[in-house]
Amino acid sequence: MAMGKNEMLLRLDRVTKRFPGVLALDSVSMEVRAGDVHGLTGENGAGKSTLIKILTGAYAPDEGEIWFNGEKLERLTPLKAMGKGIACIYQELNLIPHLTVVENIFLGRELRKSRRGDILDRAKMLEEAESLMRDLALNLDPRMKTGELGIGHQQMVEICKAVHSDAKLIIMDEPTSSLSEREANDLFRIIAQVKAKGVTVIFISHRLDEVKRICDRVTVLRDGRLVETRDIGEASVDDIIRLMVGREITNKYPKVKGGRGAEALSVEHLERRGVLHDVSFKAYAGEILGFAGLVGAGRTETARAITGADPIDGGAIKVFGQDVRIRSPRDSIDAGIAFLTEDRKGQGLILIKSVSFNSSLVRLERYSRLGFLKLKAIRQMTEKIARDLKLRAPDVETVVGQLSGGNQQKVVIAKWMLTQARIFIFDEPTRGIDVGAKVEVYNLMNELVANGAAVIIICSEMDEVMGMADRILVMHEGRITAEFGQAEATQERILYAASGLAASGEGKIA
Ligand SMILES: Nc1ncnc2c1ncn2[C@@H]1O[C@H](COP(=O)(O)OP(=O)(O)OP(=O)(O)O)[C@@H](O)[C@H]1O
Ligand SMILES: [Mg+2]
Repeated sequence: MAMGKNEMLLRLDRVTKRFPGVLALDSVSMEVRAGDVHGLTGENGAGKSTLIKILTGAYAPDEGEIWFNGEKLERLTPLKAMGKGIACIYQELNLIPHLTVVENIFLGRELRKSRRGDILDRAKMLEEAESLMRDLALNLDPRMKTGELGIGHQQMVEICKAVHSDAKLIIMDEPTSSLSEREANDLFRIIAQVKAKGVTVIFISHRLDEVKRICDRVTVLRDGRLVETRDIGEASVDDIIRLMVGREITNKYPKVKGGRGAEALSVEHLERRGVLHDVSFKAYAGEILGFAGLVGAGRTETARAITGADPIDGGAIKVFGQDVRIRSPRDSIDAGIAFLTEDRKGQGLILIKSVSFNSSLVRLERYSRLGFLKLKAIRQMTEKIARDLKLRAPDVETVVGQLSGGNQQKVVIAKWMLTQARIFIFDEPTRGIDVGAKVEVYNLMNELVANGAAVIIICSEMDEVMGMADRILVMHEGRITAEFGQAEATQERILYAASGLAASGEGKIA
């Protein structure tokens, strides 16, 4: 059934969802127009993912009605939701890695040569998949195994799959948070193609510039309540922030400039065959050192090599002037270097394993250099950090697995903050964290350096690295290609160095 531009595809009427101790959705009523890209945003824990899970039948609402395509949806299950044309692309992708792109697209709906035959019509499936991809202007070989594709391409295969199953509504829960800028741009192009086919999209993101760029309307949730839905033309990024957090955020990057202290970390001629080439740099106490570069430039690899996550083929590391040999992450913690990896899921998992927030943090005792750290002290520190970061949880005993995505990330940060390390390496620390809480993360970084730690941040968001770092190193293909002081760093200069074009004059080579 074709729908006109302003018809409603989806209507929520006073939808309420409670979890023990949490009112996740409080009588939310909203409408989504057919054919729109509809943005959904709000602070960590505001209820976005819960709303989505209700629409896909993963959770049942306690109260309220859902109308979709002119029909009231009752006792929704994931299978039923799919049958009605509601598809969702979760952050954890659901493709089967050892199957090809075609096989994944047709999974459960394979084409056969005869009506009841068991011979698959592979040629026909390949043909259909190719035509679908042409349709979406997606340049990908459908015969590839999905496990060999990058995360961006895997997402696109999921979108193909949704479109192919005749989805009327495709929901994307923070699809861009682990994509490079280029991949995100590809995704936006595909979203435009999908929209042109008349499919409606709900797009969740903490990157408000993206919401502004690709959405027709935006809905803001706060504390489980609907604040407002606006046409995007009537909502500036600052308006959206105000609706989200209930106040203005005047300073998104609250940089406090301190003085340079002792040389905390010295990395000399670090080598990892085929990955890192002659990487040398120093980080100082009292300073935030930023690593910029494109995804795959070798920044995470540098951090992994330093902290013993990957073996190295050469190079030397000094911590506060002392030679150290780091062969494992354990050695790294012992040397006073904390590494907060970009892989939240991997890190979060230890915390999720049905362990309460507090007891998972008590494990820190084992890692702590101060073996005498008392349980009570840990609890107090935990509560302070939870307060600082506005951790949204009924109390510190809540099971971490029940926290919203962004709040889990805050727990990971809290965990590392408590390690008493003197050198902190943060890889994409604010991924999935809302604008307000980001400021609190930056404040914690300020506090760390003020207390004499050295902080290294790896981040793909240019504004963040330029806003917070005292010095910026740029990497390209496993080498450091430029170094800038905060004052001399511009987006153009960084991008230039990040693409390997840095010639003499464009920043000095470290
Ligand atoms: N299975 C669950 N059990 C208990 N509480 C839950 C569960 N799922 C979500 N919650 C709680 O419901 C609230 C809303 O969480 P939700 O995941 O919807 O937030 P969100 O808006 O998606 O946040 P984020 O931006 O961090 O992803 C949070 O307080 C969360 O802790
Ligand atoms: Mg969420």
